[in-house]
Amino acid sequence: MPDTLLTGRILAYDRSPFDGDPAEAARLHEALVIADGHVAALGPRADLRAAYPGAVHRDMGERLITAGFIDAHAHYPQTAIIASWGKRLIDWLTTYTFPEEARFADPTYADEVAHRYLDLTLAHGTTTTVSYCTIHPGSVTAFFEAARARGLRAVAGKTCMDRNAPDDLRDTAQSAYDDSKRLLQAWHGVDRLGYAITPRFAPTSTPEQLEALGALWAEYPDCLMQTHLAEQPDEVAWVASLFPAARDYLDTYEAHGLLGARGLYGHAIHLAPRERARLAEVGAALIHCPTSNTFIGSGLFDLAARVAEDCRVGLATDTGGGSSFSMLRTMAAAYEIGQISGTALHPAQLLWLATAGSAQALHLGDRIGTIAPGMEADLVTLDLASTPAIAQRADRAGDIWSALFPTIMMGDDRAIAQVWVAGRPVT
Ligand code: GUN
Ligand code: ZN
Repeated sequence: MPDTLLTGRILAYDRSPFDGDPAEAARLHEALVIADGHVAALGPRADLRAAYPGAVHRDMGERLITAGFIDAHAHYPQTAIIASWGKRLIDWLTTYTFPEEARFADPTYADEVAHRYLDLTLAHGTTTTVSYCTIHPGSVTAFFEAARARGLRAVAGKTCMDRNAPDDLRDTAQSAYDDSKRLLQAWHGVDRLGYAITPRFAPTSTPEQLEALGALWAEYPDCLMQTHLAEQPDEVAWVASLFPAARDYLDTYEAHGLLGARGLYGHAIHLAPRERARLAEVGAALIHCPTSNTFIGSGLFDLAARVAEDCRVGLATDTGGGSSFSMLRTMAAAYEIGQISGTALHPAQLLWLATAGSAQALHLGDRIGTIAPGMEADLVTLDLASTPAIAQRADRAGDIWSALFPTIMMGDDRAIAQVWVAGRPVT
């Protein structure tokens, strides 16, 4: 494939907008060159034209080019039950989620939903998802095959549950270990795919299952591990009754080898001081799922406080507990929750969380999430005037951040003008 010279307004971060003035954390560039699926160069249009005379030129005009969005926690099998009414976490799981996840025993259904999910998320500008699958190994195969067919970087794992779930959604400690290991060996590191060992959460795993999955992680320490942590007060109380010897919720994971820097802990809202300190100490990632936290009624994640404690934080939809496939909508929800908690997150911080922040949470910050030479060319081109309401607001903007903010707050898939995966336009 010939090199591509892409011109437009290219937004590239030089550093985290949580260190120093957020508005100065990124700069606009005129052009970038894509070669072999990677960003080869970034800079002034005339310089890159001269340096790459054979490159095919694609001009995006006034559109804003950013790194593709990275959704650090989603459940692709919950695609069809998104926006289900009226339940809080445990009732929501038993009423809507478990019956739907049981359908994934049928590989044809898993395949159909995996393709539908990735079509939807790509249309919303998401170029990497970290997804839970179901307990069925075929649900993992379906997701990885669908992601691979699109050339996507993706992370996923078999959800493991050996108690407190319906009969047809339970594995065992041994089968969870064996199936996870087989899937991990088949998929981890294949093309752009990575495996995440996935105990659903402490209430649906026996100590024996947590122990087996901790042992598996110790055998494959370069894999990620994903689970849920302290999402709702009722759940925290349930965990305390199920694990009477544990110091707290986090300890149910820690005691079984499931706490580490490559651990992704979804929600992490209702934490005790020891848990917060320990998560920061080991460098674990907390995944903020703001639309889910309001939709299921879980509570307010204090992002500013966690960042101040030096916690790694990623941003996620938590589809289908979350109420949107859109990372723009997710940034807006993070802003709204920040406001309720007393911190107005800057647009530079919101976009960074959805790109570089999530990439760093996944330990993929050297490959995706920012636009710089050597990075994989997963890109999103945003129309900052995608609806009349947004256009009239953006018209008054004095700088790029005030031009972007109306799209963050009011934008949807109409704002996603084009998506590039590994240097190829896919929408
Ligand atoms: N906790 C355990 N499983 C789930 C899930 O599927 N969604 C959410 N939001 N929380 C969970
Ligand atoms: Zn979740």
